[in-house]
Amino acid sequence: KVIHLKDYQAPDYLIDETHLTFELHEDHTLVHAQLVMRRNPDLSSSAGGNLPPLVLDGQQLELLSVALDDTALQAGDYQLDADHLTLQPKAERFVIDSTVRIHPETNTALEGLYKSGKMFCTQCEAEGFRKITYYLDRPDVMSKFTTTVSAEQHRYPVLLSNGNPIATGSDEEGRHWATWEDPFKKPAYLFALVAGDLWCVEDSFTTMTEREVALRIYVEPENIDQVQHAMDSLKRSMRWDEEVYGREYDLDIFMIVAVNDFNMGAMENKGLNIFNSSAVLAKAETATDAAHQRVEAIVAHEYFHNWSGNRVTCRDWFQLSLKEGFTVLRDSQFSADMNSPTVKRIEDVAYLRTHQFAEDAGPMAHSVRPESFIEISNFYTLTVYEKGAEVVRMIQTLVGAENFRKGTDLYFERHDGQAVTVDDFVKAMEDASGVDLTQFKRWYSQAGTPRLQVSEAFDEAAGRYSLTFRQSCPPTPGQSEKLPFVIPVALGLLGSDGADLPLRLEGEDQATAGTRVLAITEAEQTFTFVDLPKKPLPSLLRGFSAPVKLDFPYSRDQLMFLMQNDTDGFNRWEAGQQLSVQVLRDLIGQRQRGETLAMDDRLTHALRTLLEDDSLDQAMVAEMLSLPSEAYLTEISEVADVDAIHQAREHARRAIAQALFEPLWQRYQTNREISRRTPYVAQAEHFARRALQNIALSYLMLSERDAVLQACLEQFEHCDNMTERLNALAVLVNSSFEAERTKALETFAEHFKDHALVMDQWFSVQAGSPLPGGLERVRTLMEHPAFTLKNPNKVRALIGAFANQNLVNFHRADGAGYRFLAEQIITLNALNPQIASRLLAPLTRWRKYDSARQALMKGELERILASGELSSDVYEVVSKSLA
Ligand code: ARG
Ligand code: ZN
Repeated sequence: KVIHLKDYQAPDYLIDETHLTFELHEDHTLVHAQLVMRRNPDLSSSAGGNLPPLVLDGQQLELLSVALDDTALQAGDYQLDADHLTLQPKAERFVIDSTVRIHPETNTALEGLYKSGKMFCTQCEAEGFRKITYYLDRPDVMSKFTTTVSAEQHRYPVLLSNGNPIATGSDEEGRHWATWEDPFKKPAYLFALVAGDLWCVEDSFTTMTEREVALRIYVEPENIDQVQHAMDSLKRSMRWDEEVYGREYDLDIFMIVAVNDFNMGAMENKGLNIFNSSAVLAKAETATDAAHQRVEAIVAHEYFHNWSGNRVTCRDWFQLSLKEGFTVLRDSQFSADMNSPTVKRIEDVAYLRTHQFAEDAGPMAHSVRPESFIEISNFYTLTVYEKGAEVVRMIQTLVGAENFRKGTDLYFERHDGQAVTVDDFVKAMEDASGVDLTQFKRWYSQAGTPRLQVSEAFDEAAGRYSLTFRQSCPPTPGQSEKLPFVIPVALGLLGSDGADLPLRLEGEDQATAGTRVLAITEAEQTFTFVDLPKKPLPSLLRGFSAPVKLDFPYSRDQLMFLMQNDTDGFNRWEAGQQLSVQVLRDLIGQRQRGETLAMDDRLTHALRTLLEDDSLDQAMVAEMLSLPSEAYLTEISEVADVDAIHQAREHARRAIAQALFEPLWQRYQTNREISRRTPYVAQAEHFARRALQNIALSYLMLSERDAVLQACLEQFEHCDNMTERLNALAVLVNSSFEAERTKALETFAEHFKDHALVMDQWFSVQAGSPLPGGLERVRTLMEHPAFTLKNPNKVRALIGAFANQNLVNFHRADGAGYRFLAEQIITLNALNPQIASRLLAPLTRWRKYDSARQALMKGELERILASGELSSDVYEVVSKSLA
């Protein structure tokens, strides 16, 4: 069934109070719900005396009893179907009491109430609450919740829900209970419950108005030594949101719980965030630098939702980006402030261009505010999250930082306690800034990645330099024609000394210094700069000021000049990427024509200059040394030649390793020496040193020299942290040193066999290895005792890493990789539809490949479609991919 945005209707009834009681047992759970309801006053006058039926959502519930205003209803008094309980209210105000039996102990979909190991937990967003009790499960129905949880004391000493604890007690037969009350009205998707044998780390935070907030992070006892980093991140997030957005926390207690089986990263339930343990736990010995930064970012993201999501929530799920796009922007600004802003921007843009652009080019392409869906879980996408964040970032660029803050203040004040739309957010921005964003809103309704072609013209005699911008956007499913976007282009013009020239547009009486922002609003538009005696070199789209594909005919020498001189750090990196893409495209072409590969050595020259400059930020140097990924090269190809891309990139890596062996070896040894002497610290400058050390090692190993192998083994065995150890392992796994590789994998697994998150890394490193026989290795690893299809992290670590990162093996010409993935999806469809659906992404990209592979990929999609009862999740993606 397809749900459309245009069909939105306000709810007929509201739920003022929700009183829940959970009786948790080993073989079932009873849920009693008392709903204090009334007719929606906005609708009641028009409806006259006739009350509409009350249609409650409910799925997989066994109804034991239901009463209306204390009168038990009999079978004929209501209707039940697979998704609803319908009954007829007799008055404008009434109370519904119901009791249902559910089975969290067999819930493998990890939605609603379920068991992860020995603990009970919930995941209700988006529509999981209807698997807990009959309810109006929609975000515009906001209610005050009181929750009592009762369970066996011994197995479940900790009983948690949203808000503040108000009462506890013991029952006969070793059971106990706790009651929680959440003073803030909230939609059901923000409900949470946890019961288990958990330990917590406790801390406190004093808010800007001097209120004390208790902070607790709950984990399984054996993980209690891995919580400090998340706690520190939480306190930094709370302070940052006060300082940068003026947002203060509002309850007396804030809790985070780590669970091992979780479909996504984490969930912002009011006062009780539930996290995938991979997004909370971190310590030097077991978590990489990337994992530490991910924990910091996700803790911040979920915390920031307390305002952007909870206090102000979404009217309906088409507005999902209202909270997600905005909150991703907020967490990226936070991470930028805590670490290196340029490196954070580079990472985000590389991710967006590789994965979101691919989504935009595929059969599931949708706008930031989708128009329709079959299964909302399929729309927790890169487009809604990452592109949504870019859209809010563009608003900030267009209205300016100061107006943007006025706009967010106005938005939070105006809509506190409400369920609102993207239009309400944009309206607050317009009202606060005076900027008309009518045309800009096309970013919310039009899907696809716009292309921006730029050409230049220079009139030397007149000192006039013109840039002409032409924008277009390819058709996407259901949208054949697109209207022009408002595209903010931040730019500068470089003089021959590399400095930014003063900028004066024709018709202006004063020049401005440095970067300025042009708003492109038409299909074609020319801007002319004056007072330029010599032809400048443009630096376009600084900081990636809009999520578009920009084309400008730079020469390789100009790109090298920008790499060394641009005042915008992001664009220095970008110039290096563009140069690399050009050089790699030469190699791909040579390969396809059967020629000997010969690389343009300007790339190695440029990289040498960077490596030899000690004054540069080492994290930047590491980023610049990273060639565009195979996935990105695939995305920018019309038809991707998997093998040629891989061979070309490997050839370039070898050429760089050979040409730059000395400076890389120098850098490696210096940095490893510091790592050896300094205990692990999770901070930007240390991340930077290790990043450069590790990328240097991965190049150096290509030389196959014994000194490098010995250095790698030394790092693997003697380092004090997972960043160095895992990188050394990955380098060995991708090398030809078979004996050393096998031994390293064995000792690593032996040492970390009881540490699930580390074993995930161990699976990923092997799943991603491009050496021949990848599929067979993955099949063997699925038999490993640490692997299970029931744990989403394991599925992602092994199957996801194989299909998304190991492109040569996944796309092998006989289609065995595709067939393998389809088999796993068919199995997972019955176990966990959300995870099954997410695994489909690589198969939906079939348009990018040659016709033989296209046929094989579509064949597997068809096989899945014909495999039997499909979940709505899998059905939607498969059917749209074949349409
Ligand atoms: N709101 C959560 C977050 O972004 C994600 C919830 C995802 N739920 C889902 N069913 N896909 O922080
Ligand atoms: Zn979120």
